Amino acid sequence: MSDHEPVYVTTPIYYVNGLPHIGHAYTTIAADVFARWHRLAGRQVFFLTGTDEHGQKVLQTAESRGMTAQDHVDDLVVHWKRMWERLDIAYDRFIRTTDADHIEVVQATLRQIWDAGLVEQRDYEGWYHVGDEIFVTDKDVEAGKYDPSELQRITESNYWFKMSAYQERLLAHLDANPDFIRPVARMNEVKGFLRQTLGDLCISRPKARMSWGIELPWDADYVCYVWFDALLNYLTGIGYHPDADNAGDWQTWWPATYQLLGKDILTTHSVYWSTMLMAMGVPLADCLYSHGWWTSTDGDKMSKSKGNAIDIGILVDEFGPDPARYFFLRDKGFGADGGFSYDGFLTRYNADLANDLGNLAHRGLSMTRNWLDGQTPALGEITPLETALYDVAGKAVAAMASGIESMSFNTALEGLWDLVKAGNKYVDDTQPWALNKAGNTERLQTVLRTVLEVCHLTACCLLPVMPNKANELLEKLGRSRQDAEACLREAVHAADLGPIALDLLHEGQAIEPGDPLFPRLREMPAAIAAMFENESADTKKPKKKAKKKPPAKKRPEPPAEIAFDDFAKLNLRTGRVITAAKHPKADRLLVLTVDIGEASPRQIVAGLAGRFAPDDLIGRTVVVVANLAPANLRGVESQGMILAAGDAEVVDLVTVAADPGVVVR
Ligand code: MSP
Repeated sequence: MSDHEPVYVTTPIYYVNGLPHIGHAYTTIAADVFARWHRLAGRQVFFLTGTDEHGQKVLQTAESRGMTAQDHVDDLVVHWKRMWERLDIAYDRFIRTTDADHIEVVQATLRQIWDAGLVEQRDYEGWYHVGDEIFVTDKDVEAGKYDPSELQRITESNYWFKMSAYQERLLAHLDANPDFIRPVARMNEVKGFLRQTLGDLCISRPKARMSWGIELPWDADYVCYVWFDALLNYLTGIGYHPDADNAGDWQTWWPATYQLLGKDILTTHSVYWSTMLMAMGVPLADCLYSHGWWTSTDGDKMSKSKGNAIDIGILVDEFGPDPARYFFLRDKGFGADGGFSYDGFLTRYNADLANDLGNLAHRGLSMTRNWLDGQTPALGEITPLETALYDVAGKAVAAMASGIESMSFNTALEGLWDLVKAGNKYVDDTQPWALNKAGNTERLQTVLRTVLEVCHLTACCLLPVMPNKANELLEKLGRSRQDAEACLREAVHAADLGPIALDLLHEGQAIEPGDPLFPRLREMPAAIAAMFENESADTKKPKKKAKKKPPAKKRPEPPAEIAFDDFAKLNLRTGRVITAAKHPKADRLLVLTVDIGEASPRQIVAGLAGRFAPDDLIGRTVVVVANLAPANLRGVESQGMILAAGDAEVVDLVTVAADPGVVVR
């Protein structure tokens, strides 16, 4: 993509017959990340989202609330906007189909195609599906494609857009533009659909049956079909008007770079919308990207009507907007379906954010504060360990650019996490604590500078994905957002050419570790856990949104008693941790050397990596079981055990203020 090409991205506009759930948030987050990425790259961007406020479904919901349709949509739209604010969605316009300019564009477009003879009045007798607001053929009803209780037999006169006239032209467009519909499986689906006879599209509803819509300009007894009205939002939003004198600079943005949509609304976009554009003499969008669904863990699509929709609000309340933004884009491919579970969310939060990124930032910042006066150190001599990291950095930035620009968010983030993981491995390999102990300041400076550089480049790349956390990390590194944006632009260009030299920071800049970026969460946040009380683990379905209260804790079984003689067999001693490093083969284990007052220190392998970074442990005085028979833990000998509080998960270490080697009893 050229640097100066304006970028236009849209989400579907959402029905305001309920509150936003994770499915709606998903598309909106994706569009926001895409838009932010391009803005950071210095491109002109327009990002449009909004609400679909007309039609039978919205009217029915309004009636069930005892409100007029207008009062109902005015009331609900506030919640939608608020949710996008809480998720840091930076749209350029939030369009409502009840906006005056939109009503004007819909009526002018209807008039245009009516005057061009592209609309015909016809009598229709047949089936109507209330939920989907569509006319259904006898063939589809016989094939059992619809729930009979949702079908109405109707006889009425309506206006039909001559959509069938565009069948061949549309097929030719698909053949000539293989990237018009993505992923490719969806393109094939649409081609299959277009190989059958394409009918015309009924674009009116008699007011006598459903009056909540935009009136047809030539017949006041009818309103416009909700989809014909809604699809036009993509043009109203950028200032289009069929009458050139009334139009804004819409051609700066159109054709849209990407129109995002769920797979359930593929036909309405690829066929209805495209043929409407052909009739209007407007080019088709560059790409319709049809993403997959978030389902419940049993594969069922989430929806308001099924009552299995996950409230995005609770995730934002309990984890913050950034982890939610990260999770949905990282956890599955954009085109594919994926099952959502709160457990999966928590696991990814702890693994990717707390352990990988949070740990790297904490290690780099706290070691710099402790050993190098809290100042970004100088880079000394570069060794192959650093140049290997430059290579990973180049690949990570290239993966972010190509992944985000092609809507492949999970591969983008996987690529970036290769850098984060390589950063943690670099710390383990270079052992800055040993360099510090040995007084090798020059090498220590190069190592910690390189770690801070990895944190910095990662924060720059994460600006569009986790804008708050990326800023927080940049602040800890003493960097301004403006500098970071410039660095990102530079890095994206450099990554085109290969490795990126990690030398973007300034020596002598004060850093500040502050609070952990992503505190580890050993338990599900209470408000979420409370929704599952009394449910067995494998049939987890939220009961209702619950008030915040701590989950019921199981009392541990009283342990079997032992005789004093058994206890006396234990030789417990205080020990001071001298070195700590990650186990080469096991993520949960750390390999420590501990001075317990003997001639030489013990090597002890401990399952503490889920709770502590190695350098958190150095210098602590712990309690060691000194007479435990040595054991081989994943290839490393352990000569004792360290006492810690906690069962499956470590809560804290038992530490004492005493010299090494003192007996504990
Ligand atoms: N109003 C129409 C769109 C008109 S666009 C001119 C509509 N609204 S919707 O609120 O029902 O759905 C909007 C979008 O949310 C669709 O793209 C739909 O696929 C998406 N999602 C709804 N539930 C979803 C999931 N469970 N998972 C992912 N996306 C889902 O259709």
